[in-house]
Amino acid sequence: MRRSVMLSCGSYLPEKVLTNEEMAKIVDTSAEWIEQRTGIKKRHVAAPGQKTSDLATAAAMKALKAANLQGSDIDLIVLATTSPDNTFPATAVTVQDNIGMGGKGFAFDIQAVCSGFIYALATADNFIKAGQAKRALVIGAEHFTNLLDWTDRTTCVLFGDGAGAVILEASDDGKGTKEDRGILSTHLHSEGALRNLLYVDGGPSSTRTVGHVKMNGKEVFRHAVTRMSEAIVEAMQANKVTAEDVRWLVPHQANKRIIDATAEKLHLTPEKVVVTVQDHGNTSAASIPLALSTAVEDGRIQRGDLILMEAMGGGLTWGAALARW
Ligand code: ACO
Repeated sequence: MRRSVMLSCGSYLPEKVLTNEEMAKIVDTSAEWIEQRTGIKKRHVAAPGQKTSDLATAAAMKALKAANLQGSDIDLIVLATTSPDNTFPATAVTVQDNIGMGGKGFAFDIQAVCSGFIYALATADNFIKAGQAKRALVIGAEHFTNLLDWTDRTTCVLFGDGAGAVILEASDDGKGTKEDRGILSTHLHSEGALRNLLYVDGGPSSTRTVGHVKMNGKEVFRHAVTRMSEAIVEAMQANKVTAEDVRWLVPHQANKRIIDATAEKLHLTPEKVVVTVQDHGNTSAASIPLALSTAVEDGRIQRGDLILMEAMGGGLTWGAALARW
């Protein structure tokens, strides 16, 4: 049975760091408030002129290097972003050019906001299983700070810029069991009736502007814990595994309180949870591959470990993926 094996990952954070203390000079907030309510200590901000495709390319190059591959070895790029370089073309085609993939294969963007990486992973996995791609770069990349209203303290303190990438490769080596390496299953959901809880108030067909993030924080928080827990249970049941079998939870990094509440609900002990939100804030589609790369690079995630990824974002969209690293 064909599986998408996760070969490597890589990530990139822009050089400029904005601490909570610096944030308190921009809006009426305090470093303590931000850290207590969200767990965030700092975020990274892209340099002037640094585009989402630049962040994505930097993360992709690291993932390629880690797998000892070149751009020309890739035949599919699925890039999740909510802050594309341009309305069109897709940011993915710029990355295709940047990494030297040439005219080989195909590249496109996915828009599912903070769930973008899970959606992109599911999409690439299905292209691989269908035999339409052999080696895919799955990227989450955001220049999210350009979508912020820097006078709105209820949103601007939460987000940051960054990118992460994973390389998937088709493998027919496994027996089709949950012991095989690779993506075991993905589970996607959305509910459009809830789209007004979290959105950007601009766009080409509405205002002809880029717009800014608007959010009902309390409701988003409530839905996040419920929906992500549901998706986790769905992924575990689909593969007949329990919380004990899961070695690592690699959640979307939005808010430490959301991560803690979700893990607690599912009896996933804190030692099993990868948390990086303190270092980069909510980087939307980039947050899962950023956390994954951190835990792979520091040696926590080892080959063969069962990892559970989950996210929720604007739409509302949510989902989970279970994989053996
Ligand atoms: N600094 C200081 N005070 C603030 C700030 C701030 N940055 N922001 C809000 N406040 C104030 C509010 O005005 C309010 O004051 P009031 O009581 O005088 O009206 C008070 O703090 C409490 O506000 P709440 O909204 O009740 O605070 P809460 O504990 O809910 O925390 C937060 C707010 C952090 C936004 C929380 O609701 C949250 O994390 N929601 C989820 C949002 C999220 O993660 N979105 C990301 C996208 S979706 C996703 O990724 C899952």
